[in-house]
Amino acid sequence: MSMLEGKTAVVTGGSSGIGLAIAQALAQEGARVAVVGRREAVVHAAAAAVGAGAIGIPADVTRMTDLERAFGEVGKQFGGLDILVCSAGSTGGGPLDSCTEEAFDALMDLNVKSVFFTAQKALPLLREGASVIVIGSVADTIVLPGGGVYSASKAALRAFVRTWASDLAPRGVRVNLLSPGVTETPLLERLQSTPESVQGFDHLMAQRTALKRRGRAEEVAAVAAFLASDRASYMTGGVLYADGGMHNW
Ligand SMILES: NC(=O)c1ccc[n+]([C@@H]2O[C@H](COP(=O)([O-])OP(=O)(O)OC[C@H]3O[C@@H](n4cnc5c(N)ncnc54)[C@H](OP(=O)(O)O)[C@@H]3O)[C@@H](O)[C@H]2O)c1
Repeated sequence: MSMLEGKTAVVTGGSSGIGLAIAQALAQEGARVAVVGRREAVVHAAAAAVGAGAIGIPADVTRMTDLERAFGEVGKQFGGLDILVCSAGSTGGGPLDSCTEEAFDALMDLNVKSVFFTAQKALPLLREGASVIVIGSVADTIVLPGGGVYSASKAALRAFVRTWASDLAPRGVRVNLLSPGVTETPLLERLQSTPESVQGFDHLMAQRTALKRRGRAEEVAAVAAFLASDRASYMTGGVLYADGGMHNW
């Protein structure tokens, strides 16, 4: 039997990159998945690509009313929830000398505040034995010059995960952080839009990654599928890196 047969899942940011690969991996293991993202057509196309009864729910996770509507829809369609993956997120902010208040707030709203309230709105639906997976980043550990706001946003997620693991243990809900390294996704394509930026990432891979290459979204998704399954039944409050060994540098 597949690892996730009969389970239901929500993947925020499930319409692109790491989230989409996770939605596909969960569906391949038998889960019924709801894909959440902002762009309506892209969300529905992603749900169709995921297949296996997946549904698309267009929603902006930084808006409380959207989150309430999204989880209302999940409750109606699925009844309850076994897997929550918070992958919606981005880079941004800026260096200490030039980051604006607007850029700081926008990144914190998306990477930190929206994860908190996504988990809060999902809470009433989470079943006994549910698995919550928050997508962090290797940036919570390593130094990325000028990337302090992004690193801080991802470090905050470690604190959430540790606390929620303890808070939700009496309900049998496990909570873990899955931290990717440099992973080939549309987000990375945007970050590598110039030859100089590609060179910068090549250097990062050569100097600071044991496996000397970028990761693939499927390689992160395979870890998420494991964390979502009962095979990870004794894992909670932890951090798993899928980063080619980068966090050791
Ligand atoms: N790629 C990497 O190298 C890397 C490394 C470490 C960590 N991560 C983390 O992995 C996660 C996914 O990144 P990715 O590389 O897969 O990026 P991506 O390809 O750009 O995908 C981001 C996803 O998040 C959704 N999203 C963004 N803002 C949203 C909002 N306000 N409401 C709802 N959905 C929203 C996007 O959909 P819409 O645009 O339609 O809203 C999209 O589905 C992020 O948390 C990122 O920090 C990525």
